Amino acid sequence: MTDSGTFQSYMYGDINIDPYEIVAFQRDIGCDVGTILDIFGTPDQTKKQAKKGIDITIERAKKSINIKDSMKLACPVQGSIYPDLRTKCAQELGELNADFFPIGGVVPLMENQRYSDLIQCIIAAKKGLPPGKPVHLFGAGHPLIFPMAVALGCDFFDSSAYVKYAQDDRLIFYWGTEKIDELTELPCSCPICSHYSISEIKNQEKSSRINLIAKHNLYVSFEEIRKIRNAISNGNLWEMVERRSHSNPHLLSAMKLLQSKDIKNYLEKYEPISKKKALFYTGTQTLHRPIVHRSQQRVQSCFSQINKTIIEFEETKKPYSQTYSKQIQRIRKKNPLFSIIVKSPLGPVPIELDETYPFAQSVIPIDPLVEQNEYLKQIYHSFYKDATVVNWRNISSLSTISSSDNEYEDFDIRRIRYVADYQFGKGAGDILLKGKIRFVKSKKTGKIRNIYSDDKHVLSMRASDGFFTLKIEGGRLLHDSFLSPLIRVIVFDDAVSFIREGKSVFAKFIKDADPGLRPFDECLIVDETDSFLGVGRCLLNRAEMLSFSSGVGVKTRESNNI
Ligand code: GUN
Ligand code: ZN
Repeated sequence: MTDSGTFQSYMYGDINIDPYEIVAFQRDIGCDVGTILDIFGTPDQTKKQAKKGIDITIERAKKSINIKDSMKLACPVQGSIYPDLRTKCAQELGELNADFFPIGGVVPLMENQRYSDLIQCIIAAKKGLPPGKPVHLFGAGHPLIFPMAVALGCDFFDSSAYVKYAQDDRLIFYWGTEKIDELTELPCSCPICSHYSISEIKNQEKSSRINLIAKHNLYVSFEEIRKIRNAISNGNLWEMVERRSHSNPHLLSAMKLLQSKDIKNYLEKYEPISKKKALFYTGTQTLHRPIVHRSQQRVQSCFSQINKTIIEFEETKKPYSQTYSKQIQRIRKKNPLFSIIVKSPLGPVPIELDETYPFAQSVIPIDPLVEQNEYLKQIYHSFYKDATVVNWRNISSLSTISSSDNEYEDFDIRRIRYVADYQFGKGAGDILLKGKIRFVKSKKTGKIRNIYSDDKHVLSMRASDGFFTLKIEGGRLLHDSFLSPLIRVIVFDDAVSFIREGKSVFAKFIKDADPGLRPFDECLIVDETDSFLGVGRCLLNRAEMLSFSSGVGVKTRESNNI
C-alpha cells in the first residue's frame, strides 16, 4: 500500500503534486493499494473550509477511480471534527467504486489525545460507509487506541510512530509510552527485552539503540493486534476496550461518549446476540456495553408493565431461579401472575430469563451497585413505572389475589414464552406455544432441551446461551403469524434452489432482511414472494447482508421441503 503525499503536504507545507499523476504513478509502480491525493482536514478548520476540503476530495476520488485500473484505491474520509461532514463524505465516497476507506485527518487528534473527537470521527465515518468495505485508520500507531478503534469498526492501521518514538528514546506499551531514562527495568518480554538488559540498551550507540527500541515498539504493537484478534473471536473485545481505557485518563473520559443512547443504538446493531464467553464486568462502563444496552431495551419493551405487581429479589448466585427456587414457588402458588424480577446490575431480569445470555453468563461483583448508580436507577425507574414493587421478604404485606387454577402457568412454559418473546419479538411465545406443548429436559442438568408443539419439534434450547435454535416447524409457525419482513431474510429467486438443498445463503443473494435481525439471530429464509424456504442463523445484520458482495450471510439450518 502506498500513500499519496497528502500527509507530507500537511506536515511539511505544500508540495507540488498533481492529484492524478500521483495516482497513475502508484498504479504504474505496481501498488496493490494506492491512495488518492485527498485534502487533509485539520481539526482547527471552520466548517466551511472542511466542506470545501471534502468536496475536492470527493471530486478527486471520482476522477482517480477512472484511472486506477486493477489497483485497489483508498479514498480517505475527511471532514475535520464535524460529524455530519464526516458522514456525508463517507456516504458519497461509499457510492463510488472505491476499495478501501481510510479515515483521514485524525493524526492531530491522536497526537493531542483528543480521543472523544477521534471516536466521534470514526463513528460518523462508519455510519456513512458501506459496512462491507475495509476501513483504515490513517496514522494510528499507538496500541493504546487499537482496541477502541477496532471495536468501532477499523480494520487497518499504519504508522511510523514505532520509529519516531524510538528516535526519541521512548518505548511503546499498551498502556502508554515510557522514556527509557525513566525505566529501571524493562517491563516486557519481547525478544529485544528478553535479550538485552535495560542498561545494555541505554548504553548502545544512538543508531543501534533506535533500532532496538523500534523493534520492541513493533513487537508490542503486533502483540496487541494479536490480542485484539483473539478478543474478537472470543467475543470479548468490548471488555478489552474497557480494561484498556483505564490506562489513560483521556481515553477513559472519551469512553463517556459511548454512554450516549444514540451511539449505543448504533453499536448494538452490529453486536452478536450472544458470545462464547461470559460477560465480565470491568466497571460501570460495562453497563453501557452494546449487548447490555440491548438486553435492557428488550426487557423494557417485552416485559415492562406485564403485571402491576412486581416482586423484587436481590442479586444472588446464578442461576437465580435455583438459588431462590423455594421462595419463587411459594410466591407463584399464591400469586401466579406477579412479575418476579431480580435486581441485577445489568438491569431488571425477569426470573424467566435467568438462563439467558448475558444474565446467566456474566460475572459481576455482588454489591449494592444498583442503588449507587444513577443510570441503573433510571433503567429500573422506567421499567417499574407505576407498578407496585415489593421486596420478596415483605410479600406478606400484600393481600393475596385469589387466582383461579387456570391462571397458573407451569414455570417451564412461562420460561419458554418469555425467552421466545425476548429473542424473536413480542408475541413469538404465544405463536410458538399455541398447540399441545410437550418438552424434553436434559437428564443431567434438568434444563429444557427440546420443545414440541402438537408433537412437532419447534424449538431447541441451547445450553450455552439459553437462547432457542429454531426448528423448521417452529419457523413455519412464526412465518404464518409474523408479517414480512419480521425475522426474515429475503433471497433472490436464483438462490432458491440452493437453499432448498440446504446450502447456506451468500450475502450477494440477499435481497432484503428484517432490520431487527442481529448477527447470530435465528431467522426465516423466504423468497421474494415470502414463500417459506427454511430456517437459519444470521452471521450478519441487515446492513451487512446488503453490503457484502462475498461470504455467507445466513447459515441455513433446515430447509423447507414442503
Ligand atoms: N496519513 C495520515 N493522515 C492522512 C490523511 O488524512 N490522508 C492521507 N492520504 N494520508 C494520511
Ligand atoms: Zn520489549
